[in-house]
Amino acid sequence: MANDEFPLRVGSDAAFAAVRKWFEWTGFTEDAVKEHFEIPHLHHLLYAYGLQREFLEKKYQARGITVFQARTFIGGYADTAENFATYMGVDNLGAFFELGLLVEEEYDRYSCPVLLYPAMGFWVTADRGLRPDGTGYRGKDYVMSGTEFLCRQYVDTVSTAPCKAFLDMGSGSGLAALVGTRFAARSFGIDITHRAVQFADFNKHLNGCQNLTFLEGDMFAPVHGMHFDRIACNPPFEPPLKEGMIFSVGGADGEAILARLIAEVPQYLEPGGRLYCQVSGTDREGDPFDVRLRRWLGAAAEECDTAVFIRVGLKPNEYAIQQILGENQDSWKLQEWLLFYQKLKAEQVILGHCIVQKRASADRPTFHIRRTFGERTGLKEMEWLVDWETRVASPGFAEWAMASRPMAREGWEAIVCHEMTNGKLEARSFEFVQTHPFDARLPAASWMVMVASRSDGSFRASEHFDFLKGKVEVTEADFLAGLVEMVRAGVLVLEGRQG
Ligand SMILES: C[S@@+](CC[C@H](N)C(=O)[O-])C[C@H]1O[C@@H](n2cnc3c(N)ncnc32)[C@H](O)[C@@H]1O
Repeated sequence: MANDEFPLRVGSDAAFAAVRKWFEWTGFTEDAVKEHFEIPHLHHLLYAYGLQREFLEKKYQARGITVFQARTFIGGYADTAENFATYMGVDNLGAFFELGLLVEEEYDRYSCPVLLYPAMGFWVTADRGLRPDGTGYRGKDYVMSGTEFLCRQYVDTVSTAPCKAFLDMGSGSGLAALVGTRFAARSFGIDITHRAVQFADFNKHLNGCQNLTFLEGDMFAPVHGMHFDRIACNPPFEPPLKEGMIFSVGGADGEAILARLIAEVPQYLEPGGRLYCQVSGTDREGDPFDVRLRRWLGAAAEECDTAVFIRVGLKPNEYAIQQILGENQDSWKLQEWLLFYQKLKAEQVILGHCIVQKRASADRPTFHIRRTFGERTGLKEMEWLVDWETRVASPGFAEWAMASRPMAREGWEAIVCHEMTNGKLEARSFEFVQTHPFDARLPAASWMVMVASRSDGSFRASEHFDFLKGKVEVTEADFLAGLVEMVRAGVLVLEGRQG
């Protein structure tokens, strides 16, 4: 696919080693940059407007190596050859020029033609977006940076447990695949644009990674016949209402690339393997997002579990206004956005994550779940839930659960509704409310509140059941189902400790 003047060169190993050594030696780290600019996320250096921009500009005026690095490699400012020689030394400068990381401008000034930022212990290059002075890249194959908020959110929600083969689908600048080299014996990245693969490959060399391969191609074509125990993807998912960039637009309804990924992924997953995917889409009248996602699996739904996690849910008009303001689009565009969602019969636009797990063996049914993030929900909680549901669906669960010692989690509330009947105030209904590990509300029977309040880990579930006998009417099957629901709602843990 299109490749407009790729600015970097894969030069000698010695040049890459020299650049790396200089970055290491001078401490060009994410923390150092965040600390100097007093920002929680590098994203703010790229996207700052108004007062925040003014604040950062002042910070850019300070002296010192961190500011020099941030100005040059993140901010994209040119500086004098003399300053470069002072900060970097002439030998190091040679290595940066060899790799194309520095170019000479007019009047004896140098600048970095790409964005180069520290992220998660790596140094990553990507395209520098178009700036007011007209510099920067804006081809359709523009390669987004891993400092983008959504990209970091994606990388932070991919499991880092050790695995054999990891694939980052749509790898862009390659940050997730670089991180994959830490936990996977072999890490792969695939991207449809030649430019993204060039950046990713450059980043591989820049970081001296060995067990990493970047391939160019449409979806899984370059790895046909291979299997991975972990696949991750941050697919393009914007509606076709913005500038049509390959990295951002997700086909006619914004979900087309995700739909293809979900349809194709089962044949590339090892049994027990998982896909971790950042998703965005719509809940439509009579057709919620998670139901559609399961449909995309086709026949593979019989062997794959799906878990959809909603981080943000917005009414289509709220989402459209946010997009128009964020992109500085004209207000008349709002009509187009609203019409687009009307045609889809969209009730909610969602942003979140999904995990698709290929069943390890056929001895259990699959499960399909959807949850809403609480204030502290992240990867750990998503993984916990998928592990829990896998256990619930596996043979021997009932015996294991009855022998477990339930423990109440912190923080749940029970809302009790009382009713005055025949001069007596009586509790009529109960509801558990919890914000961790997920936002949950669970209508409950009175015995459930009783069990939850005495679950301190000292009694087995079977002993709780015996305790209820004679007090309330509940079968063992209903008791077990209630326990499972209480674990799902974050009221109890059965593992014997807080998750
Ligand atoms: C939203 S970007 C994510 C990039 C990177 N993973 C990140 O998080 O920074 C989506 C990426 O998918 C790539 N892509 C789009 N369609 C693709 C396809 N059919 N096959 C492979 N990659 C594709 C784009 O080129 C782009 O790099």
